[in-house]
Formats: sequence, C-alpha cells, structure tokens
Amino acid sequence: MTGNIISVDGFSSTGKSTLASKLAEHYNFYYLNSGLMYRIISHFALNNGYIINNMIKESQLINKLDDLNFDWMIDNKGNKCLSFDGKIFGEEMYSFEISDIVSSVAKLESVRSFLFRQQKKLAVKKSIVVEGRDIGTVVFPDAKVKFFLSADLDIRTMRRNKQIEENNISFDSMKVEDNLIKRDKIDSERKIAPLKKAKNAFEIDTSKKSQIEVFNIAKNYIDSNFKF
Ligand code: DC
Repeated sequence: MTGNIISVDGFSSTGKSTLASKLAEHYNFYYLNSGLMYRIISHFALNNGYIINNMIKESQLINKLDDLNFDWMIDNKGNKCLSFDGKIFGEEMYSFEISDIVSSVAKLESVRSFLFRQQKKLAVKKSIVVEGRDIGTVVFPDAKVKFFLSADLDIRTMRRNKQIEENNISFDSMKVEDNLIKRDKIDSERKIAPLKKAKNAFEIDTSKKSQIEVFNIAKNYIDSNFKF
C-alpha cells in the first residue's frame, strides 16, 4: 500500500528535480529521484569492474545487486534522503563518466526490474513525489497526479552547463549537448519502459518559465483538481 503519489516524468534537464523537490516540500511528501538510482547503479558498476570499455557485465552486476538495497536515511542536515548500501550519494553522480553510460545501464531489463522493485518498496505507506522517465506509465501507473516536463534542447543544454559549473562537476562542456541528445534517443527508443508521456499526464513546457512559475502552475493544477 502506498499513500498519494505524484509522478514527474520528462526529458533530461527539463527541471524535474527542482519541481519534484519543491512539490515534496510543499505537500510534506517524500521525494524520490529515480534517475539518481540509475546513476548510483552505474557508478557502482563502474567502480566494481562490471563495466569495462563500455561493455556491461549484466549477469555479474545483477547477482551482486541482489544483496544490496536502497533505503531512506536522514542526512546531516536532518533531511530525508535516499541511500544505497547504507551510503548517501550526491552531485558526483552527475559526472561525464556516469552520464555517458547511464542510459545504457538503464536499458537493461534486469536493472530496470531490480529498480522497479526498489522503487515500489521505497513508496510503501508513504506519500511521495517520484521523478523519472517511466514513473507515471510503468512504475506507478495509478499515481494520483502525473506531470510531464519538456523544454527546448538549447535551454536544457544551458541549464545542464549551469548545474555543472555551480557544482564543480567533472564534465567536458563541449559534450553536454551531445550527451543530452544521445540519452534522449536511448531513453525514448528503448524496448522496456521507454520515456513517453502518460495519457493522463499534465504537460508543462518549461523552456520560457522560471522555477517558481513552473512550481505555481503545478501547484495550481493539483489544488484545483485533487484532494490529498
Ligand atoms: O534524470 P536523470 O537524467 O538523472 O536520469 C539518468 C538516466 O537514468 C536517464 O538518462 C535515463 C535513466 N532513467 C530511466 O531510465 N528511468 C527512470 N525512471 C529515471 C531515469
């Protein structure tokens, strides 16, 4: 059993994390970034020799993952956050190395079904805002409220560059746009749980809107149509 679920799906760098975390704070819900889960698995695979020369050793990786879990933890600022194998991961998950491989890892059926189970478990008895690519379509098709975010590629590239600069992430800025294009393609064309808008999702084009404008549009949509 879960409480209320709000899904926020969409392309990379459209403002999903900003919107989802603001909504979670406003409604006092948990906030789950499922893209971060795919990044953590990619980091784990890279660090433990399950990816060599872009080749993923899928069965070895998944055997190892079966012993490990995502869970909720309280960080040193007192915020609820996601942990994997008892550890908390941050901005280092947005490096070029991880961004370059994450969509290939996310294509694997075994990884998706592992994370599907983990996402379901994290939502048990909780009201939660979950962001990702397949949340409103596959993971929580019965989510009470569904959003789908889009934005122009040049705006998304600019935003990703800003995030990289502000957080000192190791990333070749010339490769930012290429990485977004490559991930859009793999994420939307894969066979299992491709990125697509759920029929009943409310779409927001964030290209020309500030973070606060996007939040207000989403909040007005929720408050006029749903009761928690
Ligand atoms: O949201 P993000 O850019 O951090 O996500 C990283 C990658 O993870 C993205 O390119 C595709 C994958 N992903 C996915 O396949 N399904 C999700 N629910 C979330 C992310």
